[in-house]
Amino acid sequence: MKSRVLVTKRIYPSAVEYLREHVDTDYHESDEGYDALQLIEHLAGKQAAVSQLTDKFSADVLSALPELKVISNVAVGFDNVDIAAATQRRIVVTNTPEVLTDTTADFAFTLLMATARRLVEADKYLRAGKWTQWRIDLLTGHDIHHATLGILGMGRIGQTLARRARGFEMRVIYSDVQRAAPEIERELQLDYMPFDAVLEQSDFISVHVPLLPATRHLLGAAQFARMKKSAILINTSRGPVVDEAALADALAAREIAGAGLDVFEREPHVEPRLLDMENVVLAPHIASASVDTRTKMCMMAAQNCVAALAGDRPPNLVNTALF
Ligand code: 8YV
Repeated sequence: MKSRVLVTKRIYPSAVEYLREHVDTDYHESDEGYDALQLIEHLAGKQAAVSQLTDKFSADVLSALPELKVISNVAVGFDNVDIAAATQRRIVVTNTPEVLTDTTADFAFTLLMATARRLVEADKYLRAGKWTQWRIDLLTGHDIHHATLGILGMGRIGQTLARRARGFEMRVIYSDVQRAAPEIERELQLDYMPFDAVLEQSDFISVHVPLLPATRHLLGAAQFARMKKSAILINTSRGPVVDEAALADALAAREIAGAGLDVFEREPHVEPRLLDMENVVLAPHIASASVDTRTKMCMMAAQNCVAALAGDRPPNLVNTALF
């Protein structure tokens, strides 16, 4: 008998076709996600979920799904799943790393440039008909070339961002719980530093850590106070890594100069004060959103799901303790 799989939300069609070839697929072809009760209802009697970051698999949800064997997340992040509870229940959890690394790093750099050079503000200014004369200090921003970029978290995306920064002759400093290999440091000309030193020395700070209990509110009032007044914060990782209210306070008090944000603490809610700030560039969690990358992420999740249901070690296993 074919395994039964729920696709919780709309994904790219090639991945749905692949799933239909291999498993009995219940496709929720909608952008409206399921809440906890709906997830339980629609997953009853099914062995796998192809899920997205908006699907919350808490320990309670998992305990109501005794037949569930696989959660295949269409995302590199998996903070929407209680991994300890899943592992205890021997539920295989998979993610979609690597295919989105370049695209996400591209977008972090896009946000950095747009914020530093006030691109969104400039576009609005022009469209509003305010451009009546050229002025020596019209929309002057911050230089990117030769500036210091501080990267918090030197994993795959952090390293790829550092590679982008080299093209702009930036100095790249970083901090992480684990130091990068010497050959990576050499190739990317990285300076490893204590966390506070990165905060103090950077012109731009870009966050690339996963959301874990230890990284929740990694950046708050005390950390903003350490940054340069001219510093610009970029976040394409997870919203709760930054204390959003404290960030709004720091921006309002001009403790830092700007922020480029793709992720928020309570998506899709955004701290209202940020919406009124011209020195903030905001995006609705789209760092990996190129057609190619999102298509690859969906296919990768479908393949992870089918492999795990076949009892094989799936290529992108999160809870490695299971195999
Ligand atoms: C996705 C992401 O947009 O992969 C991640 O962890 O945050 C983004 O690439 C999103 O998760 C899609 O579900």
